[in-house]
Amino acid sequence: MKVVAINGSARRDGNTAILIRHLFAELEKEGIDTELVQLSGHVIRGCTACDRCKVNLDLQCAIENDIVNEIIGKFIAADAIILGSPVYFADITAELKALIDRAGRVGGANGGLYRRKIGSGVIAVRRGGAIHALDSINHFLHIAQMIVPGASYWNVGIGREIGEVERDEEGLLNMRTLGENIAWLLKLTRAGDTPSLKPSADAENRLLPGGGIHHIAVRTTDLAASLRLYRDLFGMRPVKEKEVPGKRLVLLDTGNGSHIELAAPLESAPTNSPETLHPLQHIALSTSDLTGVIGRVRTAGYEITVEPREARAGGSSLFIAFFKGPGGELIELYQQN
Ligand SMILES: Cc1cc2nc3c(=O)[nH]c(=O)nc-3n(C[C@H](O)[C@H](O)[C@H](O)COP(=O)(O)O)c2cc1C
Repeated sequence: MKVVAINGSARRDGNTAILIRHLFAELEKEGIDTELVQLSGHVIRGCTACDRCKVNLDLQCAIENDIVNEIIGKFIAADAIILGSPVYFADITAELKALIDRAGRVGGANGGLYRRKIGSGVIAVRRGGAIHALDSINHFLHIAQMIVPGASYWNVGIGREIGEVERDEEGLLNMRTLGENIAWLLKLTRAGDTPSLKPSADAENRLLPGGGIHHIAVRTTDLAASLRLYRDLFGMRPVKEKEVPGKRLVLLDTGNGSHIELAAPLESAPTNSPETLHPLQHIALSTSDLTGVIGRVRTAGYEITVEPREARAGGSSLFIAFFKGPGGELIELYQQN
């Protein structure tokens, strides 16, 4: 599980960053991965309303010369998003607002990229305007259909010079409480496989424990066309996007926690291997006992094409292995820890 936070302040490692790090400490205690991105020093222009994101449907903003697309990628991969800002004239900073406008537009254009992720604002303030600034962030979190947890008071710490928030005991308590609540929610909503894939006790498959289809990998040479079908016509929500050697992957939730994985070969990838010629790349079956299952597959004489190995997906670690079925179909065994 991964939480990404943005510090919208012009001051690197100032009060906003300090508050976020107090929040992070609670998450890290629970084994949750964290990443802080500081906007200080970055020039970020606002949305130009070109609406090319609605045409391109490539999970990107058409303005490509700044950090926004990189951050959108981090948002897509994260389970929770924290947006932090100092109060500037009773509101958030211009850079954070520009990021919200552009990332928000891309998220909406691409079918709700941040839907049901957990989201929170964090505010550093000298004296006045904190609640208004927090509201500005909440407008984005709510329209993006994110789940917004609360804290013991509003998510605000008081201080002017760098480090002064450390003396605001109630502000630090807010951050700890917020961190605890985010960790609790993450574990409730994201831990392990999607609950809908868990068999009920009487339907349990003892030969493939923890079984279910995790994803079906489909090769596409036209990612935008595939997204128009699976995402736009069928409403499947993109939940992860990444590049691996030779291809770009977009994982879409079919609606019950199983997925279609679109695999678009990069230009540099070889084009004549059987894997790249067939549109159905592989079927990934979930299991909670990959070692046991692959042992039985081996004994039964199937060809193992990838021996069990560890992999990473977002912040969580996986065990995967591949073998060939009787018709030559490639089957992945997928164990999420
Ligand atoms: C341009 C600017 C405008 C500010 N406006 C406000 C304000 O409206 N209300 C307030 O209480 N503090 C205001 N402040 C003070 C900052 O919110 C405060 O120093 C905060 O702790 C800075 O956080 P940072 O260290 O993360 O940058 C302003 C600071 C700057 C630079």
